[in-house]
Amino acid sequence: MSDSTAVPRRTWQRMTASGRFVVEAVTDEILRVAYWPANAQPHRSWSLAPSATAPHAVDVAIDDQGDHASLSTNALQVTLTSPADAESLGLVIARKDGSAVLEQASIRLAANGRPVWTSALVEGEVIYGGGERTGPLNKRGRSMTFWTTDPLPNHGDQTGAMHQSVPLLIGLVDGKACGTYFDVNERAEADIGKAPANTLTYTPESADLVAYVFAGPTLGDVLRQYTSLTGRMPMLPRWAFGNQQSRWSYMSADEVLAIASGFRDRSIPCDALYLDIDYMDGYRVFTWNPERFADPAGLIQTLREQQLRLVTIIDPGVKVDAAYSVYQEGIAKGYFARKADGAPFQGWVWPGLSCWGDFAQPDMRSWWGDQLRGLIEAGVAGIWIDMNEPAQAGIFAPPSVKISHGETLPDDVVHGMLDDPITHARFHNTYGLEMARATFEGLRRWRPDERPFVLTRAATAGSQRFAIVWNGDSTSSWDNLRLAIPLNLGVGLSGFPMTGGDVGGFWQNTTAELLVRWTQLGALLPFCRNHSAMGTARQEPWAFGEPYTRMCREAIERRYQLLPYFLTLAHEATLTGAPMARPLSWIAPTHAESLACDDEFLLGEALLVAPVLDEGAASREVLLPPGEWFAWESSVLHAGNLRISAPVTLESMPLYARAGTILPLAAVAQSTDGMTEQPLTFHVYLTENNPTATADIWLDDDHPLAEERGAFGVWRATAAWQGDDLTVQLERVNGQLAWPYPSSSIALHLPEGWTIASLDSADDLHGDSFVARYHVTRG
Ligand code: GLC
Repeated sequence: MSDSTAVPRRTWQRMTASGRFVVEAVTDEILRVAYWPANAQPHRSWSLAPSATAPHAVDVAIDDQGDHASLSTNALQVTLTSPADAESLGLVIARKDGSAVLEQASIRLAANGRPVWTSALVEGEVIYGGGERTGPLNKRGRSMTFWTTDPLPNHGDQTGAMHQSVPLLIGLVDGKACGTYFDVNERAEADIGKAPANTLTYTPESADLVAYVFAGPTLGDVLRQYTSLTGRMPMLPRWAFGNQQSRWSYMSADEVLAIASGFRDRSIPCDALYLDIDYMDGYRVFTWNPERFADPAGLIQTLREQQLRLVTIIDPGVKVDAAYSVYQEGIAKGYFARKADGAPFQGWVWPGLSCWGDFAQPDMRSWWGDQLRGLIEAGVAGIWIDMNEPAQAGIFAPPSVKISHGETLPDDVVHGMLDDPITHARFHNTYGLEMARATFEGLRRWRPDERPFVLTRAATAGSQRFAIVWNGDSTSSWDNLRLAIPLNLGVGLSGFPMTGGDVGGFWQNTTAELLVRWTQLGALLPFCRNHSAMGTARQEPWAFGEPYTRMCREAIERRYQLLPYFLTLAHEATLTGAPMARPLSWIAPTHAESLACDDEFLLGEALLVAPVLDEGAASREVLLPPGEWFAWESSVLHAGNLRISAPVTLESMPLYARAGTILPLAAVAQSTDGMTEQPLTFHVYLTENNPTATADIWLDDDHPLAEERGAFGVWRATAAWQGDDLTVQLERVNGQLAWPYPSSSIALHLPEGWTIASLDSADDLHGDSFVARYHVTRG
């Protein structure tokens, strides 16, 4: 947390009657634009990473001419207008090449004295981001509320606010991207060209307003710039990239073991099983039900012998129960959110009458982390945190209590230390972030030799430093399957690279066909977990028998083949903030159809995924972005910038590898533990137009200190085709990890008509460096 009122150099500022406007070059590419009222409390940022406040070298030239001024850096040219008697600031922000970042932006004060941001939307501009949102990926023409919300009973196209509220909006026009991030905790509304059509208006319920503008100019640059402030996902444990299985709830150790056998007996790969709220004793967090889970450590040991991990849920609501130590201690130490009169606030959630952990207090966070010790010592691999918007649930309340499901805490509830209080209205959006911080730090403290795994429902800017996210309670419907694509792409473009939703859908009964289609899609999203609500039909991958079990298995197997690629993309995200699943516009930012595409995505830059989203489909229309694309199964080459109709059966899903890429594919293993036991295959996709390819492959020893210790490797695969000669090479370019695969093989994918005449020479394909030379001929 930083006090962002300090004004360093490289800053322009104007005092007005009510406060001051400040413009600061944070880096050459990042501008901070702020308004602070004269007598307001300093704005505290919960979202910024500690590294964000470190000074960066930046060359700034400021020319202040009274009511107008200019400020320039190596990347940006800014014109400021602030007439002496006006309570407003106008900005024109351009890149050094003259292209507009924001053609016109302003902060002005509304009638209630609060600052409002507006910026012009230009013709053809699309707007991405905002966190977790339904509707199309392009949010232009819509409005959004920034207020973490459990949108019950379920989310649909018009849902206004969901669990992950991230005030980052990314504009993309003429192939160039820029971003605006509002570092505001309070509730806010954004109108993104809904009325009027060419203006973006951001209206927070805060007295001050701090915005960061990112110059881009690519989507990747905007994410890099944004995450340089709010932080990046740390590398996750390897098992997190495997298939995960959950249900509300697996009710006993025996049931969990039966689920484990369900996977292993049918050879369906899986890495982790989840325990939902019923593993606890009366929904008391940090306890186990003594009858149904009598020996948690024994259960976890048995699962580990089958290469399965166990994840348990923890909610922020603590049961009001004088005989329960977590409640007793929390009360004694003042660690629960309190009413305005200082008494602990009581509301309703799964355990019945409950208090809410007050994660605004640093000591409380550390105490909460300590409560995890028992779970960690039993061997729990990761923690799933939920209901942390925070959301109440009235189902176990007496009839006289009227709590609508998802209702949050009242605005006047107070958080924070007694001498540093903050109202719920100001802390609400940050609650999930601070719960994730407490959980992450607890895991790291009590198990320093393993990478923490925290899955959270509620999140805001910066939560990516501590947790990954899923999409909350979807419905088992074709509509919800379809909206999962833009939803997860939008979350990815909001700084959360590792995201996914409940495979099969949460509420209502799924069907055999929907489960297969959802598994095919879900297995290629970064986070893949099948989960469903209490009272719904079972939806484990084998729930509908054959042939559906086989189809689900095949979809999951494809994920396990792609694990080396998933791990590499995840590592890239830790360095750059790039999402693992990306919109087509990531590689085709000037291609109008790609900008508007809501039903396909790219995994990294090499793989195009076109999930089947219609019941009974016999074909699906696929938009192939500019480039050339090899169909996954048949290796048939397609030209890009084209729509094609791909025939499908229930077991197939259109998937394409981009020409000019190399994909490292592992052999299918039953868990990530077995990923490196069999040979790796380099799939090389080349054409006459795309005759070269380079792919870096990241692998590490899965330890939190892998990078510091050099226990990682970056291997660079390159391929080049010229005339009749085609060469594929592998070399280590960084790190000291031994190449773990027993051997490698190469699969060449070339346009129709080309064949391999001979393999002239191949060094030993057993090590981590080789050169393979092919002679290829036409016909
Ligand atoms: C919430 C979660 C859901 C979970 C349920 C019970 O609805 O979103 O995933 O199963 O609570 O804990």
